Amino acid sequence: MTSHEDVFGQEAAVTCFAPGRVNLIGEYTDLIGGNVLPMPLTKGITVTAGPAASGIHAFSTAEEAKIDINLQDGKKDHWADYVAGPLVMAEKAGTTIPPMNLMVESDLPAGAGVSSSAALEVATLKALFALTGQDRSDTDIALLAQKAENEFCGVKCGIMDQMAVSVGDQGHALALNCETLEWDQVALPAGWSIAVIHCGEARQLTDGAYNERRAALDAASEELRPHPLKSQSVEIAKKLSDPLVARRVRHVLSEQARTLRATEALRKADMSLLGDLMNESHESLRADFEVSTGSLDRLVAAAREAGALGARLTGAGFGGCIVALVAESELEPWWHAVSTECPAAWAVEL
Ligand code: GLA
Repeated sequence: MTSHEDVFGQEAAVTCFAPGRVNLIGEYTDLIGGNVLPMPLTKGITVTAGPAASGIHAFSTAEEAKIDINLQDGKKDHWADYVAGPLVMAEKAGTTIPPMNLMVESDLPAGAGVSSSAALEVATLKALFALTGQDRSDTDIALLAQKAENEFCGVKCGIMDQMAVSVGDQGHALALNCETLEWDQVALPAGWSIAVIHCGEARQLTDGAYNERRAALDAASEELRPHPLKSQSVEIAKKLSDPLVARRVRHVLSEQARTLRATEALRKADMSLLGDLMNESHESLRADFEVSTGSLDRLVAAAREAGALGARLTGAGFGGCIVALVAESELEPWWHAVSTECPAAWAVEL
């Protein structure tokens, strides 16, 4: 295995890790300051960092490529954008970026919808602050990482992924309010498994479609001003002038209500209710938010047919993964049935 020293001729000074995440429920609700319920994975991204004589150099073990990063350059549409973007944002916020070497090692599948980009952004920032001896809260780091995604990479994402990978606890779901950024960690009850299954269809280039969804929600907020969208009941959708915007709003407001109920269900270990709400969430994402695909729908159907209490697409959609709630004792036969029905599907190791 390649080490920091092999690549840069000097041992790393700091090692920082950020996990991937799967979202149990609360899809696109972060865009209205709503609630989400993501869970960190055990797999993730490790960034090691050490001082350099000059310049900023990043090496990815997956790409086997060393890249010189110039903070004056904009985004280049490759993996190092998720290193450069956070450094640029940290610099804008007042940190002097020293010459340094960074090595990136990942055991997360890229482009699968499990937040490998948020993990790289957050691990990079944690490494930067550890190397320069600065104390930053995990929330501040998540906010800087989101800024990098919004302003450097041009994806107008919410705060869910960066918070999940910055503050989430293993084995717990993060019950996060995306407006106040208050959260608590809810343990997964014994006897239950969360399965994350890739549908076999790579997540398509989604930046444009994602930003469009956001624009629809922003248009609705504008129309309803001064009343915040989040505080409205789902009935308000009927009063909006544009029928497409109305459907997007119907999803996000019904999803917000489901997420609050699902969080309570998880706290009370009412897994049957949690499963039902996950199923409703998928239907709403498919019909109203239109971010599902045929492969995701087939996989969700197979997961339920094989005995999952709930199954839904997770993350932004457009390919990638589903999340399913399965009794631990049934996990093996369940996966056997699902993979027989959907041979292109593969399980993301948690
Ligand atoms: C992506 C974004 C998040 C969130 C999800 C959908 O993962 O990065 O902010 O909006 O999509 O829930």
